[in-house]
Amino acid sequence: MDKLLLIDDEADVQYSFRRIFSSPEIDLSTASSGEEGLKLIPRLQPDLVIMDIRMGGISGLETLRRLRQTDAKLPVILMTAYGTTQMAIEAMKLGAYDYLLKPFDVPKLKQIVADALKASRAMKQVVSYEPLLESEDYSLGIVGRTEAMQNVFKLIGQLAASDATALITGESGTGKELVARAIYHHSQRSSQPFLAINCAAIPDNLLESELFGHEKGAFTGATQQRIGKFEQCNGGTIFLDEIGDMSLPTQTKILRVLQSGTFERVGGNQAVQVNVRVIAATNKPLEQAVAAKQFREDLFYRLNVVRIQVPPLRERAADIPLLVSYFLKKFAEQHKRAPKTISTDALMTLQRYAWPGNVRELENAIQRALVISKSDAILPVDLPPEILGTAVSERREAAPAAAPPVAATLVASSETTQLAQALFQWARQDGTRKIIPTVERELVIQALRETQGNQVQAAKLLGITRATLRKRIEKFGIKKELAIR
Ligand SMILES: Nc1ncnc2c1ncn2[C@@H]1O[C@H](COP(=O)(O)OP(=O)(O)OP(=O)(O)O)[C@@H](O)[C@H]1O
Ligand SMILES: [Mg+2]
Repeated sequence: MDKLLLIDDEADVQYSFRRIFSSPEIDLSTASSGEEGLKLIPRLQPDLVIMDIRMGGISGLETLRRLRQTDAKLPVILMTAYGTTQMAIEAMKLGAYDYLLKPFDVPKLKQIVADALKASRAMKQVVSYEPLLESEDYSLGIVGRTEAMQNVFKLIGQLAASDATALITGESGTGKELVARAIYHHSQRSSQPFLAINCAAIPDNLLESELFGHEKGAFTGATQQRIGKFEQCNGGTIFLDEIGDMSLPTQTKILRVLQSGTFERVGGNQAVQVNVRVIAATNKPLEQAVAAKQFREDLFYRLNVVRIQVPPLRERAADIPLLVSYFLKKFAEQHKRAPKTISTDALMTLQRYAWPGNVRELENAIQRALVISKSDAILPVDLPPEILGTAVSERREAAPAAAPPVAATLVASSETTQLAQALFQWARQDGTRKIIPTVERELVIQALRETQGNQVQAAKLLGITRATLRKRIEKFGIKKELAIR
């Protein structure tokens, strides 16, 4: 539940807020003056404060100034009537999250509140990244035991200890945002604000003004001065997500901020000095964008000094069991239920799939399976059809060269112990199950399916000779099975 504090001396406003935010997800408290609000905040620990600029007693601006002496991060939205907007703009320089003009329109109010709560959560929820033990009580963490992820953790640690600019690259859904937040939470700037901007989601012509602000009259529609994110976030960390989608003129301004800490608001000529750490991320290959002259080479090198490349999930299939148990626990906690387990068959199906949508896709698959599942354990039938049915062809399409067969991945990463343990667990469920013949038979069948019955290729895949493969086909009576299929 999100805690919202409204500071306003007008009973009418308090009343309409109670109506607008009467939802089970929001816990609204009210205070009638800045002094009362400031007293309430340490006890209440709200996620967001919304307050009027003009109140009896100390003003909203003064309240914000005092609040900022002890808390640089708590998002504050100010409400302002015509005539006090200049104060609201000043408030943005003090690190207010945003301001709203009265009378406000309710959908816009709700949108700004939702955005601010998201920003608040990103600042509050610490993302842990050290190897997480299954028994550990964690709410938000980067899960991974494979060597590839351990390298990512090492780099996060190094970046957290420094104040350097960081570039995070990786396919969609690999956890780039999580990595950015982990760096922030463990850095010296963790008590200062963190603001994330998705460069791909903001139209090109608005992004520059969003980041750097603008002067009154800078362009049609610029009726007020505006303070941008860099000024607002002074002292803190800015996360430029999808930086590969940024236009060249905006890239030029970013480069200058990185080099000298200065910029001008759009339409302005006065240099503004800030101290902001930049963390950037992209799922686009920036080297190619540089070659195509869509991305400034100098900015690329400036960002690329320390780079974290988050590996795709198919290259760390051995992390899947751990991720699955993490998500099972996380969703159980969210729904206040006992965690379900997962059957060995289902887990193996997950490990066979190529995951073009990476960890996000896995997370969604588990969430969906929990909804569908009728038993205590998730079974293969509870998994999305694309994962169940086309595990093999998907892999070919998604990653032609990069995806080695799962068996090879497991051997290469010496995770066979984990695989063996899963098999023992499966065998123990029913004393009559025989691991070696069953697995051997299944491997032969799968190899033949993957290679459309090509015995030379299937033997190669299995690491045996063609003669041995023939003997196995005979022994297990597999021909019939393949023909039926
Ligand atoms: N290693 C991990 N451990 C636990 N959860 C993870 C991990 N990696 C990703 N996730 C989860 O997967 C989802 C996607 O992660 P995130 O948004 O960080 O990915 P992204 O790389 O920024 O994706 P995109 O390129 O699509 O923006 C989130 O819900 C995140 O919590
Ligand atoms: Mg992202």
